[in-house]
Amino acid sequence: MDKVIIFDTTLRDGEQAAGGTLNIQEKLQIAKQLEKLGVDIIEAGFPISSPGDFEAVRLIAKEVPTPVICALARAHPDDIDRAWEAVREAEHPRIHVFLSASDIHLLHQLKKSREEILQTSADMVARAKRYTDDIEFSPMDASRAEPEYIYQILAAVIDAGATTVNIPDTVGYAIPDEFGKLIGGIFQNVPNIKQAIVSVHCHNDLGLAVANSLEAVKQGARQVECTINGIGERAGNASLEEIVMAIKTRKDFFDLTTDVNTVQIYKTSRMVSELTGFSIQPNKAIVGANAFRHESGIHQDGVIKMPITFEIMDPKTVGIPASSLVLGKLSGRHAFKERLAELGYSLNEEDLNRAFSAFKEVADKKKNVTDRDIESLIAEEQRTVSEVYHLDRIQVSCGDRGIPTAAVRLVAPDGQVLADAALGTGPVDAMYKAINRLVGVPNVLTEFAVKSVTEGIDAIGEVLIRVESEGISYTGRGADTDIIVASAKAYINALNRLLSAKKIAG
Ligand code: KIV
Ligand code: ZN
Repeated sequence: MDKVIIFDTTLRDGEQAAGGTLNIQEKLQIAKQLEKLGVDIIEAGFPISSPGDFEAVRLIAKEVPTPVICALARAHPDDIDRAWEAVREAEHPRIHVFLSASDIHLLHQLKKSREEILQTSADMVARAKRYTDDIEFSPMDASRAEPEYIYQILAAVIDAGATTVNIPDTVGYAIPDEFGKLIGGIFQNVPNIKQAIVSVHCHNDLGLAVANSLEAVKQGARQVECTINGIGERAGNASLEEIVMAIKTRKDFFDLTTDVNTVQIYKTSRMVSELTGFSIQPNKAIVGANAFRHESGIHQDGVIKMPITFEIMDPKTVGIPASSLVLGKLSGRHAFKERLAELGYSLNEEDLNRAFSAFKEVADKKKNVTDRDIESLIAEEQRTVSEVYHLDRIQVSCGDRGIPTAAVRLVAPDGQVLADAALGTGPVDAMYKAINRLVGVPNVLTEFAVKSVTEGIDAIGEVLIRVESEGISYTGRGADTDIIVASAKAYINALNRLLSAKKIAG
C-alpha cells in the first residue's frame, strides 16, 4: 500500500492539552474543516469522559459524512457501549479500544498481570466487534513495553477482530531508530499482522514525535495519528502538517502519498489555533509566521532569482495566501466579499452583513485592513453568535493618579439590561470585577495575554484569557482596536463558554 492513512486526533488527544477545551459547536466546526482537509479518520472524542464529549462525537458522527469517525474507549464494557452509542450514526464508524501494556503501567497503575491484560484486550475487542467491523486497538505505553509481549497482544486482538493496531509512544520516550525497530519487529513476529493496518501514535516529549512517526512509516506503518499544530497532552502529538508535508516534499525518499488536500493546511491550522487559544510559535515548521520568511540578504537574493534556492516548498501548496491584499475604508461590499472568498470563507447574507459592518468600523479606525485583520474580525463575529451575556457598553478611567474605575453594561440571556461599576488595581481588574458582579459565576483568572494582529500603532489587539471554575479551564478571546474593549470581550467570551458548558453538564 503506497498511501499513508492520516488519523487526526486534534479533537481527542489535541483537546487533552492543558487549557484547550473546545465547546461542541467549535468541535463540529473543526471536524468540518478536517473533512475539507481530506483526513481519512477523525478521532472525535472520548465519549465516556463527559456528557459534552459524548454529544460532540454524536454530532460529528451525524454531520461529517466523508471520513471515518472514531470514538475512544478504555478496555471496559461501559466505555465501549458508550463509544458505540456516540458513533453509531456515522457513515463510517470506528471504535478505538486501548489498554496499557508496559510493565510500568501494569505494576504501578493497573496492578494486573500480563495474562489478565492480554485476555481483557482480546475480550474487549471482541465486544466492540459486535457493534462494527472497524476496530482499532492500542496497547498503551507500547514503546516502554517488552516487544515480545506487544507481539502477543497484537496477535490476540487481531484474532479477536481488530482491523488496525496502533503502537503508541505514549510518553514520547522512543528514539527513531529504536521505534523503527519495534515496528519492523511487529511485521516479522506477529503471524497475522497482514490482517491489520499498523498505525503509530507518537508524543513529543523529546521533540521526536514526527521523526518517530516517519521512521515507523519507513518500516511499513500505514496509519499515522497526529494533530493540527501538534497540539496534545503535555508536549503534544506528532504534527499533522509536518508529517503530510514531509511525505509530499520528500516523495523521492518515501515514495508514498496521503489524501490530504494540502492547500487547506494553513486555514485549518489558524482555525485550531484560534479556537483552542494555543498560538503558534513563529518558527513552527509549515504554519509558523516565519516558516516562509527570508531575512538574510543572501537568502532573499536567491529566492528572488529562483525560489528553489532557499525554499523547499511553495507556500501556496499549504494555502498561505500569495498576496496580502489590503482593503481600506473606501473598499466596498463586493471587494470585501471577494476577499473573504479568497480567504476561504463563504458567509450567508446575514453573516456577511454583520461582517461587513464590523469591517467598516475597523476600516474607520485603521488605514489598512489586512487578511489577518479580516480573519480576526470574522472570528470575533463568530464568537458573538451564540452568546449568553452580550457586552453592550464599557467605559473605563485610569491613569497614574486616579483610581482605576470601570462601568459595564451587559445584556442578560432574558434580554434584561444590567449595569454596574467597580474600582480595581487597573482598568482590566476594575472591569472584570464589575462583570463578575453582574454575571455572578465564581471563577479565577489564570491567564491573560494581549497581542497585536498586525504591525502598526493602529493594529487590532487580540486578547486571550483563561479562567478556571471547579477545576476546568475555559478560554476566552476578544479582538478590537481598543485593547480594553478586547479584554472585556475576551472575559465575556470565557464566561459565556463556562455557562454553556455548565448547562450541557446539567
Ligand atoms: O498516547 C496514548 O497512548 C494514547 C492512546 C489512547 C492511544 O493517546
Ligand atoms: Zn496520546
